[in-house]
Amino acid sequence: MSSIDKVLARIDANLDNSLDRLFDLLKIKSISTDPAFKAPCREAAEWLARELNDIGIEASVRDTTGHPMVVGHRKSGKPGPHVLFYGHYDVQPVDPLNLWKRDPFDPAIETKPDGSKIIVARGSADDKGQLMTFVEAARAYLEETGDLPLDVSILFEGEEESGSPSLHPFLEANKDELSCDLALVCDTGMWDAETPAISIMLRGMVGDEIIVKAASRDLHSGSYGGSAQNPNHIVASIIAGLHDENGKVTLPGFYDGVIDMPEEVTKMWDELGFSVEEFLGEVGLKYPRGEKDRMPLEHLWTRPTVEVNGMWGGYQGAGSKTVIPAEAHAKFTFRLVGDQDPDKVQEAFRAYVRSKIPADCTVDFIAKEGSPALRLDFAMPALEKGKTALKAEWDKDAALIGMGGSIPIVGDFKRMLGMDSLLIGFGLEDDQIHSPNEKYNLTSFHKGIRSWARVLDELAKD
Ligand code: BES
Ligand code: MN
Ligand code: MN
Repeated sequence: MSSIDKVLARIDANLDNSLDRLFDLLKIKSISTDPAFKAPCREAAEWLARELNDIGIEASVRDTTGHPMVVGHRKSGKPGPHVLFYGHYDVQPVDPLNLWKRDPFDPAIETKPDGSKIIVARGSADDKGQLMTFVEAARAYLEETGDLPLDVSILFEGEEESGSPSLHPFLEANKDELSCDLALVCDTGMWDAETPAISIMLRGMVGDEIIVKAASRDLHSGSYGGSAQNPNHIVASIIAGLHDENGKVTLPGFYDGVIDMPEEVTKMWDELGFSVEEFLGEVGLKYPRGEKDRMPLEHLWTRPTVEVNGMWGGYQGAGSKTVIPAEAHAKFTFRLVGDQDPDKVQEAFRAYVRSKIPADCTVDFIAKEGSPALRLDFAMPALEKGKTALKAEWDKDAALIGMGGSIPIVGDFKRMLGMDSLLIGFGLEDDQIHSPNEKYNLTSFHKGIRSWARVLDELAKD
């Protein structure tokens, strides 16, 4: 047997133990956005550092201004590229808790009606299950051959789900240690359950929250109604004015830097046979919204958007209360593409919002850190190697796809460390990431581990 076959056989034999270890990690409540979970975030980082040291990757927990990072290294002394593997150990909050069929931090394997097995827990797909595919691949390699096929460094982050506030200073301060030839990132999805994928673009993001204030206190809506400004109405009109009747965002200059895809890419995507009816049907919808002159996959991958993530103001308790609230709130996020500049988008948004505020009212803004979109070089040699490895495992050509979501660090790898990324992940559309009852297919986990072993093997060949 060649050494890769032996490694793959060991992965198969180890699977139950691999799952036990993943379950240990899934039990840790590492919700990064909520300060109440600061201690479990550290616990997850310590767990991972221990795990890496156990398998022979020298690792430590590094403090930041927020949640700690885990950094590890294993020098093989072999030629070939030095790779940096990235994943995040933090997870999203679990609310609404009543919609979970089980405790989100008590992982279990469930069997679906079609016989397939799923791992159910918060973070199973985003991103603990995915990051453990790499760790378990490295473990099998080290156990079987005593070494890794190339130099490997590791970076696990604990703030991805909260916008990575301490990432820039950390990357800046540890530039030399973290700059490798290539980053391997496991935080994206497959095309479908049979078809592996490599993501070649990610949307960027910038966010803002607004607080519109009118009267100095809540008012009687009869005594003042019709005379005093109502901040709920102001926020509603701000939101309503963001799109025109064709679904275009109205902010001046918003589409500056948006790039149309070359024909070879749109052709490749046409051949994927995407069905928007099925995509939306799965979540109980039918008709795509968005720019009328654009295709469904463009809406998701190559076009910029604005979404209102939350809005509140005024009375929300039982029954009615006749009141004009003193203030109203809304949270917005823009998904960015091409060369759109997050700062410029934010400036345009703020100028627009200010223009809608009556002279006797005010608006405050709470910014969220922005990150530009990312396009990978379609001719990047590592793409070919990734495709070869995935084809061997899944017996199907990998699709080169876009991703609607954002992973801010990938752009920083390029801009700050000059490092390209190979984005390979095994998530599926129905994993319910960020939602109740998040799951990761057992096949994603098992074949994900095998895929990384093959990717390492492939990258080590010249
Ligand atoms: N893993 C996701 C990004 C993702 C989502 C990739 C769907 C592929 C498909 C990541 O953890 C995430 O949720 N990112 C946030 C970033 C934000 C909090 C700064 C996002 O996209 O909303
Ligand atoms: Mn993620
Ligand atoms: Mn996420």
